[in-house]
Amino acid sequence: MGFQQVSVGDLQGMATTAGKVLEQVRASAVVPDPSKAAPTFTSVAIAELCGIARDQLKYLTAKYDLPAGLKIAGSRAKAYSLEEAITFVQALAPHPERPLGKSGKVLTFCNHKNDVGKTSTAVALAQAMTLRGFRVLIIDCDVQGAATRLCGIGMERQAINAGSLMPYLRGDQPNLRYAVEPTYWHNLSLIPASSALLAAEFALPARAVQASGCRRWEVLANGIEALREDFDLIVIDTAPGLSQLTVNAIVAADGLTMCCPPDALEFAASVQFWRMCAELLATLPGAQDKKYDFVTIVYTKVQPGDAARLVKTWMARAYGAHIGSAEIPDSPVARAAATQGKTIYDLIRPEGGADAHRRYKEPLDRLADALMDALALAWDAKAKQTAPAVETQQYAARAA
Ligand SMILES: Nc1ncnc2c1ncn2[C@@H]1O[C@H](COP(=O)(O)OP(=O)(O)OP(=O)(O)O)[C@@H](O)[C@H]1O
Ligand SMILES: [Mg+2]
Repeated sequence: MGFQQVSVGDLQGMATTAGKVLEQVRASAVVPDPSKAAPTFTSVAIAELCGIARDQLKYLTAKYDLPAGLKIAGSRAKAYSLEEAITFVQALAPHPERPLGKSGKVLTFCNHKNDVGKTSTAVALAQAMTLRGFRVLIIDCDVQGAATRLCGIGMERQAINAGSLMPYLRGDQPNLRYAVEPTYWHNLSLIPASSALLAAEFALPARAVQASGCRRWEVLANGIEALREDFDLIVIDTAPGLSQLTVNAIVAADGLTMCCPPDALEFAASVQFWRMCAELLATLPGAQDKKYDFVTIVYTKVQPGDAARLVKTWMARAYGAHIGSAEIPDSPVARAAATQGKTIYDLIRPEGGADAHRRYKEPLDRLADALMDALALAWDAKAKQTAPAVETQQYAARAA
């Protein structure tokens, strides 16, 4: 060990050796992460997801031949799988559905600052949307691969360089269909990140040089187009910074969500982000006339106290109606879930006490409800009209 002169030939030797090690890793890789399993649900949880009382659930289960669940040994309660829970939601909950002929929507999480909660919020929100009956795809555009890991794909797998956006970005694939993988979570698919994504910054301008008329800021949008049929919602998690890939993700989006802790420096940085974003979009042909369905700023990692309250008053003045109605607290539950590689929706039992669990989960649920409303508005979608869903709505109306 020590400092030595390194020639380009030495660098080539190092790359060759490293390549061989990578080959060995590929050969021995274990996928997917076996520690990640979807949670199970009680009938109380399912009734809550469907917005009905538990005895109505029993009646509707029998009437419409819905999943019977598994008896828990030594208890009168039953357990339902995630897939069964989603079957209930799709049958009973009066949530809006994407109308036939309407495309899935793309939601990009952005902020050039790091550590603001983009990935945690993006993955949790994606899961929350599946629990409202939607088919969701996450595209991990961050070479760090935090969203990929939260979706149950471990580091070994990311080293493999299979999947990911890169083959498409290099021009080796016509669209992104090849890269979509199912995850351990029903109705949640993923385009994983891999270390190969580091090359995106070179591949995008190179494509524009090779193919005349190719706009390097629209490459991702074009690749996503074929997936809009298959998914109701496509969530893009971006890396910190304002890279070419992030600009692509911003251009591809129908909606933008910025996660921003209410802190003076984060607020100042957010102003800089929107300024850069607007100036950049205004210079890009094709993006200049873009109309986003919505742009939302979500307070994340909110600390109690006067300092955060004061910054929120500035941000409310600065961003007005763009401020999301739910704010996500700085929460020990979020940290505990993250150390286990989980989101709040992965946790079967409340972590750190029921109150702390609820304080973190409730705003995420409200964020998902607001997103569902925004999608319904953008699609001009109505509440579901299937017989069981209509029956649930009549129940709710009688109860009100
Ligand atoms: N509400 C919260 N309360 C406490 N800690 C949180 C909360 N949300 C996220 N964290 C933690 O903050 C860290 C950063 O979160 P996350 O990875 O979601 O941010 P990010 O903006 O995606 O970061 P990066 O820019 O590096 O991708 C993680 O360790 C995560 O567990
Ligand atoms: Mg992240």
